[in-house]
Amino acid sequence: MSAETHDAVDVIRAKRDGGRLDDAQIDWVVDAYTRGVVADEQMSALAMAILLNGMDRAEIARWTAAMIASGERMDFSSLSRPTADKHSTGGVGDKITLPLAPLVAACGVAVPQLSGRGLGHTGGTLDKLEAIPGWRAALSNEEMMRQLEDVGAVICQAGSGLAPADRKLYALRDVTGTVEAIPLIASSIMSKKIAEGTGALVLDVKVGSGAFMKDLDRATELARTMVALGTDAGVRTVALLTDMSTPLGLTAGNALEVRESVEVLAGGGPPDVVELTLALAREMLQAAGRGDVDPADALADGRAMDAWRRMIAAQGGDPDATLPVARETDVVLAPADGVLVGLDALAVGVAAWRLGAGRARKEDVVQAGAGVELHAKPGALVRAGEPLMTLHTDTPERFARAREALEGAVTIAPEGDRRAVPLVLGRIAAD
Ligand code: URA
Repeated sequence: MSAETHDAVDVIRAKRDGGRLDDAQIDWVVDAYTRGVVADEQMSALAMAILLNGMDRAEIARWTAAMIASGERMDFSSLSRPTADKHSTGGVGDKITLPLAPLVAACGVAVPQLSGRGLGHTGGTLDKLEAIPGWRAALSNEEMMRQLEDVGAVICQAGSGLAPADRKLYALRDVTGTVEAIPLIASSIMSKKIAEGTGALVLDVKVGSGAFMKDLDRATELARTMVALGTDAGVRTVALLTDMSTPLGLTAGNALEVRESVEVLAGGGPPDVVELTLALAREMLQAAGRGDVDPADALADGRAMDAWRRMIAAQGGDPDATLPVARETDVVLAPADGVLVGLDALAVGVAAWRLGAGRARKEDVVQAGAGVELHAKPGALVRAGEPLMTLHTDTPERFARAREALEGAVTIAPEGDRRAVPLVLGRIAAD
């Protein structure tokens, strides 16, 4: 005799036929799936029905609440300063979290950044920081609280207690062609961020070839859905829509990206990385009630660099250590004279991944020094035979497959737009 209040097949049929799920159905199906009562094949069918027929705002909010209720919630209200976090939907060369967290901490707002590892062509923040000798991603909740109070910024691995329903569902979506459903992406991201307990949240929703969302309309819909979810849950939430048609900065790969982040903290670095770091920092400070502070000052006077050094050292890392360098390099030359009008983000991401910077399966080990270094960005004048990119790896047999990924990625025109690609494409705040 089952004590279950619902039947999975009835819930699947309701969504399959275009109906809406009521609160009790949602609470039950998420909970029963986490307990193993709803089988993977049943949840796959439901995820596909959601992908095809969608969910309304109330359904998505309830689904998110049910995923939060599947695990623990963190609470930062005892900290002496306000909290703000940032989440990026992921892109190529997106190392912004590294300079951003210490920068915002240096401006008086605590940043509890729970991050993940990379899967596929987008890198993971934890993989990047693990390129620093000694640095450790796993912290207890007590260590995290202490570091937030002492340093003001922590970037660490999310514990398994946070939204366990999402962990299970995300792995299932990955193998059933249901990752792309906006209600499921929005609830997946926001359940973890709301459970994490941040007071304010800034979302960086990427648009373009190297992003989940290839076009602006779908990215805008995802951003609006997430901003509504955060706002309804009492988290001050804002989203920026930002370009991911070309990589961010000049590097894609773990140690290469750490080096570039440190350049930004030292007052240099590529202009697009500096621009986006400052734009997101301003949004985080404003959402946390510190809109009067200009983060550009903390970058210029070295306070952000001090916070970085303390943040890395607090997690066992040596901020002065030499970063790993790949054993082999291969230089890709410009095929013609002209203006570089296109440098495809997805192709560069796949090349970096094939060089060993990313993993194809969860258990793969990444190479700290592997990746792609760019010598020019769209808008630059290039000459035939000049270096356009340097490929880095410890295993040179990977070069051929990386070069294959880059075929067709570079567009050079005799004349073209010399301006850099606009970075911030839109801003979404609560209605
Ligand atoms: N990142 C997540 O955490 N969940 C998704 O569904 C997509 C991206």
